[in-house]
Amino acid sequence: MTTGSLKLWRNAHLATCDAQDRRIENGALLTRGGTIEWVGASSAVPPAAAGAEVHDLNGAWVTPGLIDCHTHLVFAGNRADEYAERLRGRSYEEIARAGGGILSSVRALRAASEDELLAQSLPRLAALAAEGVTTVEIKSGYGLTLADEAKMLRVARRLGALLPVTVRTTFLAAHTVPPEFRGRARDYIEVLSSQWLPELAAEGLIDAVDIFCERIAFSVAEAETLFERAQALGIPVKMHAEQLSNLGGTLLATRFGALSCDHLEFAGEAEAAALARAGTVAVLLPVAFYCLAETRKPPIAALRSAGVTMAVASDCNPGSAPGTSLLTALSMATRLFGLTAEESLLGVTRAAAAALGLARERGTLAAGRAADFVVWNVTTLAELSYWIGFNPRRTVVRAGEVLRWPNSNP
Ligand code: NIG
Ligand code: FE
Repeated sequence: MTTGSLKLWRNAHLATCDAQDRRIENGALLTRGGTIEWVGASSAVPPAAAGAEVHDLNGAWVTPGLIDCHTHLVFAGNRADEYAERLRGRSYEEIARAGGGILSSVRALRAASEDELLAQSLPRLAALAAEGVTTVEIKSGYGLTLADEAKMLRVARRLGALLPVTVRTTFLAAHTVPPEFRGRARDYIEVLSSQWLPELAAEGLIDAVDIFCERIAFSVAEAETLFERAQALGIPVKMHAEQLSNLGGTLLATRFGALSCDHLEFAGEAEAAALARAGTVAVLLPVAFYCLAETRKPPIAALRSAGVTMAVASDCNPGSAPGTSLLTALSMATRLFGLTAEESLLGVTRAAAAALGLARERGTLAAGRAADFVVWNVTTLAELSYWIGFNPRRTVVRAGEVLRWPNSNP
């Protein structure tokens, strides 16, 4: 027996983002507690809606709550000075090899207390939430000791308790080799996968496992070791793959049925076919492409023709993508990568849910899914990937409840 208050949200245009990607003009939603009970045309509201609390949405467009499926938003300090160096011509790889890059964020994070880290990260998640993000993935990967990785993951969980956003946590201790293991990447992978992973998973801090498979990070063989351990624990895997070069990471990750492979600038036809076969989502991160002034783009045409599910995420992190706007990522995904407006919206709803293993729970407006949706101040959905730095969110409903911002207009 489902419980919770019954609400009818009427007089709306719905972008269901479901398998048929239906647009229902003059539609309605019936929610009970935190779940959608029915979606359809206003003229076909079922008798079960009798007695529901009625909300008139005044003909506005409604989409599922947005999902940011790839972020590193728990971090300390910033790397603006490195960005300034990159503007003078130094590359991301050069800075990383000289001990900066991810390792400079590791030093800052280790020095920060858990409460400081929470206080610094909270405004970033709040900024995403203000744009209608109701589900976010947050990775570890700037701690690189057991205690500091645990600190990051606890902060991620606390953020989810403080703000009206569902947080999924990903264990990314395999982000780079920490100073304690310099020159001993294999030993580090051994420790993090055989000791830290089971311990943190047992504490309920890990929903998925990720690795940065790259020349400046970890090899395909190292990724295989980590994935075998994750698989043995029943934890799904994902990979930062083919971002700066092609090491063959995607081909390995898809063998493990990875939820997603992310970045993919150096992927090609073979990777597109493997992703399609495995049902692995390609997560596109155009803000990192933009900030690193990359020129090589992910193979969108190949991904599209192979039928790969494409998601878009902010990649919010202090190095390659210091941004907290998923809508800006949509603008970049369309203009820089050539996604259509429709593909970009699916990329932050249904496809993003799939990238987190949540396809059956959220990301579409359909009966049985989470009652998370956004009411927009737009006349056409194309506005969602059109505006740059302007937020057309009107109202966010999360778990069937209207969220209130100081300037919100329910
Ligand atoms: O997704 N590629 C690796 N990880 C991040 C960058 C992290 C950093 O520079 O701090 C990314 O781009
Ligand atoms: Fe990333």
